[in-house]
Amino acid sequence: MKTNVLMVCLGNICRSPLAEGILKSKTDPKKIYVDSAGTGDYHVGDPPDPRSIAIAKSHKLDITSQRGRQFSAQDFDHFDQIYVMDTFNYADVIALARNEDDKKKVKLILDEIFPGENVDVPDPYQGVAEGFKNVYKMLDEACEIIASKLKEKHPHE
Ligand code: 4NP
Repeated sequence: MKTNVLMVCLGNICRSPLAEGILKSKTDPKKIYVDSAGTGDYHVGDPPDPRSIAIAKSHKLDITSQRGRQFSAQDFDHFDQIYVMDTFNYADVIALARNEDDKKKVKLILDEIFPGENVDVPDPYQGVAEGFKNVYKMLDEACEIIASKLKEKHPHE
């Protein structure tokens, strides 16, 4: 069975599209399905922010076909693991959880690197291009760990 992984931020145009593109590049699409969504509805239907597209492109990833969508409670039915970028996203997603099983699926993505330290991927939207570089680096490191754990879960299928 496939594992379905959802990346969540606020707008679904800066951080989570990068996380989606990076994890996809590190996993086998036959085994792992990766998607992203935003807790807000500001950018539904929009492509990723040009600065996210640019930093992805500089790492040979094409995220231009992604479109923004809003997270909803139904996502708990479709996804096994839900990675949020910051503690605001965490609170918003947990508020939509219907039971303990839903809640257990939700994790701060940087917990993979700094377990239990509540470290946020900073929202780069109002900032400069440098912010996107840092975000890329953090997400790449976290997704490397996520991908290797997923490989252990799907050994020789
Ligand atoms: P993201 O960044 O959550 O990483 O996609 C944001 C993008 C847009 C807005 C906020 C954050 N906004 O308020 O429009």
